[in-house]
Amino acid sequence: MSEASRVVYRFPEGFLWGAATSSHQVEGNNRWNDWWDYEASGRLPYRSGDACRHYELYTRDFDMAQSWGHRAHRFSIEWSRIEPEEGRWDEEAVAHYRDVIQALRQRGLEPVVTLHHFSNPSWFLRKGGWLCRSSVRVFDRYVRYVAQALGTEVRYWITINEPTVYAKHGYVLGDWPPCEKGAWRKAARVLYVMGKAHKAAYKSLHQLLGDQASVGFAHSAPLVTPCDRGGRTADRLVAWLRDLALNRAIFYLAGIARIAPWPARCHSDFIGLNYYTRSVVQYKRRGMAALMGEECWDEKRPERGVLSDTDWEIYPQGILAMLRKFARYRLPLLVTENGIATRDETLRSAFLREHLRYLGDALASGVNVIGYFYWTLMDNFEWALGTNAHFGLAAVNFETQERIPRPCAERFAQVCRSNVLDLDAWQATDVRDPQPVGSAAS
Ligand code: FCB
Repeated sequence: MSEASRVVYRFPEGFLWGAATSSHQVEGNNRWNDWWDYEASGRLPYRSGDACRHYELYTRDFDMAQSWGHRAHRFSIEWSRIEPEEGRWDEEAVAHYRDVIQALRQRGLEPVVTLHHFSNPSWFLRKGGWLCRSSVRVFDRYVRYVAQALGTEVRYWITINEPTVYAKHGYVLGDWPPCEKGAWRKAARVLYVMGKAHKAAYKSLHQLLGDQASVGFAHSAPLVTPCDRGGRTADRLVAWLRDLALNRAIFYLAGIARIAPWPARCHSDFIGLNYYTRSVVQYKRRGMAALMGEECWDEKRPERGVLSDTDWEIYPQGILAMLRKFARYRLPLLVTENGIATRDETLRSAFLREHLRYLGDALASGVNVIGYFYWTLMDNFEWALGTNAHFGLAAVNFETQERIPRPCAERFAQVCRSNVLDLDAWQATDVRDPQPVGSAAS
């Protein structure tokens, strides 16, 4: 192929390339949070235990990220370590995170700090967790404490990770603490309170840190489409409702989108977008499914991509669709998570390559994306799936804590180092390309 026809994407200077993790999934021994309690009580199938022992091994892990040319790293601060009992602040834990931030900076990695990534201090959940209106004040107190202690060293702040996913698993599916099933009203309340908490945290971070802070939250953004290519009105209606509930309501609650036309203060400096898959829905006359639709896997589903080990359909075009959709809020977009659980490196390679291609297309069409974080740096404790989901750029031997880089780490590294995605070069060196499985019926 001639040079001229090569497909090459150049990314903007200073683009934030990196990988993401979260405290409970990697640190190990987070004994003061709700996950630990529920794991210990047997209400969850797996125990996090030592996880990746990242609390001790972080410099080693950051060496690895640095060697892969990463320029940024997204991680979360474990609230239950900072405030193990209500109102008692642990100076040692704060010092630890100060060291973590410094270790990142020394390696040329821009820290992107998440303040809440699913896990809560045990005392907080005992008091009612995110159902209580007072949580806004309690969370804000923690945010202010962290901002005062670490603020000058951090520019990018993510207040809350995936409020909709937290509410769905904790209060509808019931497979995450506090393990309540079908509590739709509570889920809605949690979303409402988290939206308020985000706004309060946004204000506090700016009040304490001024304009040097850039604050957003990370939103789980599945592309929602009706099955049957939108033929049935009922399918289109439930897809619209599901998209409203999953992808739009939170933007109103968090003060980013406005219902009324009068000017209001926008409560985010960027939008964090976690994209993994799409959701194809149809109308079924059953319970809440009547409103939100039900996933359709039958012959009415449009051509289906390969499924990952977590049964999430690989649908790379979706990242472009979602980036374009959120571009309407006129804020910079940051891909705070995108990744795949698989044991097949060829599949991971195709996944990464295609998502980066659509990311490049988004930029080329004028969407303002400022960075991309692969989920995740290394295999870790994947919530209710334990250590059985292989999302990592490195595998982990959980007995010895050895990190074993996967081939894709080097592929991604080439993009991070050069700030360029050369699709042909990437494709030419792939062993084989996984074929789409065709329609669900085949
Ligand atoms: C996201 C979570 C992250 C991880 C990935 C696979 O929803 O934010 O912690 O579980 O999914």
